[in-house]
Amino acid sequence: MSEKKVHTVRFEPVGVEMEVEEGEWVLDAAFRQGIAVPHGCREGQCSSCKCILVEGDAEVDNYSTFALPDYERDTGHILLCRSYAFSDLTIELLNFDEDLMRRAIAVKTFNGVLSAVTTLTHDTRLLDVQIERPMKFWAGQFVEICVPGVGPDAGVTRSYSMASTQSTPTTLQFIIRKYADGAFSSLIDTTLKPGTAVTLKGPFGMCFRREERAAPMILVGGGSGMSPLWAILKDHIESGEQRPIRFFYGARTRKDLFFLDEFAAVCAQLTDFEFIPVLSQATEEDAWHGETGFVHEAVDRILREQALPGELDAYTCGPPPMIDALLPVLQRLGVALDHTYVDKFTPASTSTPNLVH
Ligand SMILES: Cc1cc2nc3c(=O)[nH]c(=O)nc-3n(C[C@H](O)[C@H](O)[C@H](O)COP(=O)(O)OP(=O)(O)OC[C@H]3O[C@@H](n4cnc5c(N)ncnc54)[C@H](O)[C@@H]3O)c2cc1C
Ligand code: FES
Repeated sequence: MSEKKVHTVRFEPVGVEMEVEEGEWVLDAAFRQGIAVPHGCREGQCSSCKCILVEGDAEVDNYSTFALPDYERDTGHILLCRSYAFSDLTIELLNFDEDLMRRAIAVKTFNGVLSAVTTLTHDTRLLDVQIERPMKFWAGQFVEICVPGVGPDAGVTRSYSMASTQSTPTTLQFIIRKYADGAFSSLIDTTLKPGTAVTLKGPFGMCFRREERAAPMILVGGGSGMSPLWAILKDHIESGEQRPIRFFYGARTRKDLFFLDEFAAVCAQLTDFEFIPVLSQATEEDAWHGETGFVHEAVDRILREQALPGELDAYTCGPPPMIDALLPVLQRLGVALDHTYVDKFTPASTSTPNLVH
């Protein structure tokens, strides 16, 4: 049997070294060896893992030019999640995050069973998954869920963020939006029902709660972006810490809103908390007297009005267009880049045409 070729990868400026096998994505090799490097979607779509190849021979394959435009490819930038090594490599990390390195959790696979499916809205469900042994993760992180077994849907794998916290380490919850033609999400309520076996791999992600900060925390979500933000909020409450929190949530109409009773209960538990739902397509029928328009516009307007003191932390999760519109607003409001934590819910690469090969 021929042995796989192994190369050494050295990350600068941290001076951490690891091995990568030929044919293995550099990011997967890092996870395998418990080394935490910047990442997001893990599918060449979000650019969180972008770095510079300083030395060595690597190939970048199967990625979106939104994540790595040609001019950056020409100047030595690579995506760790889509790079294969053909020699030893030296790589300079661009989004070097000390919290991430310090709090790395080894990625493992867990067998589980879907134990409950709760309807939150016409297209959104809360899934409970019981896993065989506790999973350690930080509130806001995500896992890959795979439908095992045989049949046409076997092997479909997608990323989903936990809506639950470490307080229930064997029962993980997920808020998932159903797409009529979605390979994974359309299976909910049919193939994916209580009793279905699933496998989970994780945890992944850098958009997790940073503790013990007194300055205000801004949470901005849209659609199923509620899932990790709900976990972050719950984890904050469970910690007993207090800080001003503004939670903005973008939805189309009133029928897309959920957890309203739960948010009312949170208001009673925290000293300075506001939940601000923003409807982009409110109808007359909605008889809506709250915020309207796009969620990034409401963030801009309200945070300017309130002028909260201190160095804000902002967490944002959900559809890429919402996040792309929000990030410049946050920057203009003075939120530092290294206090801005983002999870773009990019579609799976198998559903995205026009990737660079
Ligand atoms: C880091 C990360 C965390 C995520 N966390 C969550 C989560 O907590 N909850 C959740 O519901 N999803 C989450 N997602 C998105 C999830 O991984 C899937 O992409 C999503 O559920 C669609 O998968 P699917 O197989 O149902 O659809 P696919 O078969 O992949 O796509 C089929 C069709 O569905 C539609 N579609 C799929 N995605 C979108 C989209 N984003 N916007 C508009 N139309 C779309 C399109 O019509 C597309 O052609 C996350 C993604 C990432 C990268
Ligand atoms: S993690 Fe590599 S592009 Fe998203």
